Amino acid sequence: MKRIRTLFCAVLLSAALTACGSGEPASAPSVADSDKAAVQEKLNKQDSQTDETKADDKQSDESTAATQAETEAPTDGEGKNILVAYFSRADENYNVGTIDKGNTQIIAEYIADEVGADSFHIETVTPYPADYDDCCDVAKQELADKARPEILSGVENMEQYDIVFLGYPIWWGDMPMAVYTFMDSYDFSDKVVIPFNTHEGSGESGTYSAIGSYLPNAQVLDGMAIQGKTAQEFSNDTQQAVRDWLDGLGF
Ligand SMILES: Cc1cc2nc3c(=O)[nH]c(=O)nc-3n(C[C@H](O)[C@H](O)[C@H](O)COP(=O)(O)O)c2cc1C
Repeated sequence: MKRIRTLFCAVLLSAALTACGSGEPASAPSVADSDKAAVQEKLNKQDSQTDETKADDKQSDESTAATQAETEAPTDGEGKNILVAYFSRADENYNVGTIDKGNTQIIAEYIADEVGADSFHIETVTPYPADYDDCCDVAKQELADKARPEILSGVENMEQYDIVFLGYPIWWGDMPMAVYTFMDSYDFSDKVVIPFNTHEGSGESGTYSAIGSYLPNAQVLDGMAIQGKTAQEFSNDTQQAVRDWLDGLGF
């Protein structure tokens, strides 16, 4: 039975891999002008919010420490208006063996470093099996059930973020169901959502438009897809691809 499952996963992945090729250095996708404009608009808004906050601070000599804490501007400190939220699983995985840090987490950390963002690791209350085949089984069942697995702790003050980078691996041609739980958990209205994902051949697998449909009140941009093995084993190429992509978006 286990061999059949492994074969099934392998067939799915190898079909996808022919389209992508394995071990290729990462290359940044092109960025549409409209995507760049959307990011710039949010970043400009953050700048003007910061300026307004500074002006308010000057005027309110009488503000107490308690009031300051309550009204503390989300733009205090660099990058506070940008969140990198990601799902990523370490342990045994396809093409990379047993890893300490998930492929998507590696990309998430590069992005957070580059743009000075806060980070949130989307983790399920019930962890996924460390064994790859067992994890494939659980994920497949969750997909079939359209499950919404409970996720651990939440993002504090989600409303403060204007831009949310949303990262995940492709699981069975979709996002892990926990990413849907995450999207269900917050109001994404008027936020710019920038997806990124890792995979082993499926690319983004239609997930960027799926996110767009799932979050109709957000502005969902085209994202960046990088092969998981490349993220795990070719850090220079990956870092460069992330930097180029972010440059293209205007960060
Ligand atoms: C349960 C499961 C299902 C997967 N399904 C696919 C798939 O359909 N297409 C694909 O290209 N890769 C698939 N993969 C490979 C992952 O997308 C890839 O290894 C990814 O980089 C893992 O990211 P992570 O380490 O951040 O979790 C799957 C991996 C797992 C564990």
